[in-house]
Amino acid sequence: MSNRNQPGFFISFEGIDGAGKSTHLEAFAQHLRSRYPGKDVLLTREPGGTPLGEELRRVLLNQAMHIETEALLMFAARREHLAQVIEPALLAGKIVISDRFTDASFAYQGGGRGLSLDKLNTLEELVQGRAEGLIQPNLTLLFDLPGSVAEERRSKARSPDKFEQLDLSFFEKVRAEYLRRAKEDPERFVIIDALQTPELIWKRLQEIRLQY
Ligand code: TYD
Repeated sequence: MSNRNQPGFFISFEGIDGAGKSTHLEAFAQHLRSRYPGKDVLLTREPGGTPLGEELRRVLLNQAMHIETEALLMFAARREHLAQVIEPALLAGKIVISDRFTDASFAYQGGGRGLSLDKLNTLEELVQGRAEGLIQPNLTLLFDLPGSVAEERRSKARSPDKFEQLDLSFFEKVRAEYLRRAKEDPERFVIIDALQTPELIWKRLQEIRLQY
């Protein structure tokens, strides 16, 4: 696999709310630290990852707004995240793990809310376009499960944010868009069956090898 992010390696975690990705993020980062002892492993998240990005996250997760405003703010946070955190880290040869990246914008703002893919492609090009091509994760782990199961899991969590309050049909559309993107780019995506027990998922994650 070619690596536009040389000399680093960029990994994203994705999935609908309630799929269980957060359970494994920290442990996966720790696992990579011991497996690749010469490499720094940086764990970050979207929206967020910078002081400005975290402020935008607070607004995005709590305030109703026009769908295009929402998409623009997601990508504004991402622009800052790339400039301040992700690109310098990749340049320094680090492994970067982001809890969500642009696939989430396509899945939530595109699939879920219905913003056109053309508009999202334009924002992606604006924010991630470089002379060498689009900055994209080298590897995306998609935690996949039916919306109804995720909803059941979320109902056990405390105080849902703006997105977590949306209904089952929204999350089914988000899931469908994630799966469509995974099918389009099978080299980048690894689909994790999130219906499995956390133990089996963890075993699967430990089998993953990074292709530098
Ligand atoms: P997440 O960090 O997974 O939430 P939590 O802290 O509850 O685990 O994600 C925050 C929410 O932001 C999630 O509902 C998905 C949404 N989101 C988008 O709608 N578009 C985006 O581009 C990103 C990055 C996140």
